[in-house]
Amino acid sequence: MSLPSHLDDPLLLAALAARVDAARALLREIADNFSPAAFASSLGGEDMVLTDLILGDRLEIEIFSLDTGRLPLETYALIAEVKKHYGLALPLYYPRHDLVEAYTRENGINAFYESVELRKGCCFVRKVEPLQRALAGRKAWITGMRAQQAATRDGLAMRSFDAANGLEKFNPLTDWSEREVWAYLKLNEVPYNALHDKFYPSIGCAPCTRPITPGEDVRAGRWWWENPQSKECGLHVKPA
Ligand code: ADX
Ligand code: SF4
Repeated sequence: MSLPSHLDDPLLLAALAARVDAARALLREIADNFSPAAFASSLGGEDMVLTDLILGDRLEIEIFSLDTGRLPLETYALIAEVKKHYGLALPLYYPRHDLVEAYTRENGINAFYESVELRKGCCFVRKVEPLQRALAGRKAWITGMRAQQAATRDGLAMRSFDAANGLEKFNPLTDWSEREVWAYLKLNEVPYNALHDKFYPSIGCAPCTRPITPGEDVRAGRWWWENPQSKECGLHVKPA
């Protein structure tokens, strides 16, 4: 594999090595002291770094994903690729069919474009309620969020108590830069979502994600019709 030239940068490599050591140590601590713990993977770039670290160290942390039923085809293709590459059949949590039927009958299939309330209602049915089931009985969960990703994530802690779900929450990559994430993926030949190569730095459901243009914020393609301050789906409630 030929690597992009910036991957020869000794400063980047040294910073990345330190980040990887810290993330591995934290993941091991979670596996040892917060069992049963789970990692929620959206299969985005950050989440593939964490998947590679957790599986590489054979840690007792369950990796799961929320299949909203509206994910892009490329994300489904990556689920199959993860199975091939790591032998991991990713457990998927689905929305409750009765809630999806009630929501779409009442509001329509693409009602999320109409208001923030209707968008959050769809995210509740398709993501938040399944997440609550996925986290039931766990002592901790892990996400791939980074502080630099969005205004809503500024100052994001590595560890906090998630009062909404009643367990510890860890964000081991919070202080990683986007460059470090990509250096890790490329250097370790980790599979990633094909949409990332088509100007989609952040990927969610297909109808709510679009490519960005150079200079735009990494989450500019998510719920692009909304104000940046409202752009969280409800999976991540900020600690008070
Ligand atoms: S979010 O607004 O959709 O939550 P983002 O795509 O940046 O934002 O994801 C942030 C983190 O939330 C991911 O690293 C992952 O831990 C979790 N997450 C988001 N979507 C999913 C999903 N479909 N399945 C599992 N975890 C998810
Ligand atoms: Fe619904 Fe869009 Fe939220 Fe997916 S991201 S759950 S389609 S509103």
